[in-house]
Parts: sequence; structure tokens; C-alpha cells
Amino acid sequence: MNKVLEVIKSRRSIRRYLPEQLKDAELAAILEAGAYAPSAHNDQSWHFTVVRNKDLIDRMSAMAKELMAVQEGEWVRAMGRNELFHVFYHAPAVIVVSMRKDAMSPLVDCSAAIENMLLAAESLDIGSCWIGLARYYFSIKEELPRLNIPAGYEPCYAVALGYKDQRPGGAKPRKKDAVNYID
Ligand SMILES: Cc1cc2nc3c(=O)[nH]c(=O)nc-3n(C[C@H](O)[C@H](O)[C@H](O)COP(=O)(O)O)c2cc1C
Repeated sequence: MNKVLEVIKSRRSIRRYLPEQLKDAELAAILEAGAYAPSAHNDQSWHFTVVRNKDLIDRMSAMAKELMAVQEGEWVRAMGRNELFHVFYHAPAVIVVSMRKDAMSPLVDCSAAIENMLLAAESLDIGSCWIGLARYYFSIKEELPRLNIPAGYEPCYAVALGYKDQRPGGAKPRKKDAVNYID
């Protein structure tokens, strides 16, 4: 199998990380892969904020959990109330992905960039996890100045990154009926 297909199939969400920080060159390669994603109208409507400050990562998790703990959805509420749960799994680096609000398809552009970053990380044997739950933190508007996001952009997702402290097995089974052909 060629390398790209191998990486696509071996990537898994990693939820246990070693505390050691990634090398700058590794982070730069991952961010560059994000920037090489396709985007509607070539808007490149993403902005990446690299958070390596452990106190801020912990704060983002704790404040997200406070809001999660009072949500209606049972599953989210349980995670918010679980003392052992960390929204970013104690990853040493978190990339906050923000979208330019007036772009043509900003959420799609950012999602494409995120997938590129997850695959780039896997190609370097670096663990990653797409973090949608970060949105609970992003919803606290008074907190956002801490992230120094440029004007006109709004955070949508985060990516946890770090060296793997777990090796999950192969991919979860894929749906068999997701394709049809019209010849
Ligand atoms: C939009 C989106 C949001 C996600 N948010 C979270 C999250 O907040 N926490 C988490 O642990 N995983 C999150 N994931 C990862 C999925 O749970 C994971 O990709 C899925 O279970 C398949 O497992 P795999 O990535 O190992 O193939 C998210 C994935 C996507 C695409």
C-alpha cells in the first residue's frame, strides 16, 4: 500500500499523551500540512493558534467542563462531571483552529485543514485528536482574548497533539453501505 493510504488507515484518535513537548520542526510540519488543505474559493479561511502553555490548556479544559456539567445531554454532562476527564487529554500542545467568519465555507475549510494536520501528525508517529468539545470553552466570550485570535476569526475546533502514550489497535469497522455506483 502506498504511504498516504497507509497513514490514512493507521490514524486513530489518541487520548493518552506523554508530557514531553513536540519539537518545533514537527509542529511546523503539521501546521504547514494544515495550510495546504483545499479551501472554497482558495479563501484559506483558517487561523491556527498553538497553545503550549499547560496552565492555559488546563484552564480551557476546566472551564469547558464547568459548562458541560450542566448540559442537558447526559453523555456530555457525565464527562463534565468526571474528575478524571480532561478535554485535551493532557496533551502538551493544542492547536485552536479559528475560521474567518466572512469566508465562503469557513467550517469546511477548517475541517479540511484539521484532517490534513491529523494525517501529517500520524505520518510522523505523533498522536492527535480532533476536539469538538473545546467549543464549550470557546463559548465563553470573555476568555477568548487569552487566545489572541485575529479580528474577524472565531474558534471552531481544537486539535490535541503529543507523543503517543497508547497504541490503539486497527481502525474501527467501517460502514459497508456508504457507497453506491451509477455506471
Ligand atoms: C467534528 C469532530 C469532533 C470530535 N470531537 C472529539 C472530542 O471532543 N473528543 C474526542 O475525544 N474525540 C473527538 N472526535 C474524535 C472522534 O471521536 C473519532 O474520530 C471517532 O470516534 C473515530 O475514531 P478514530 O479517530 O480513532 O478513527 C471528534 C471528531 C470529529 C470529526
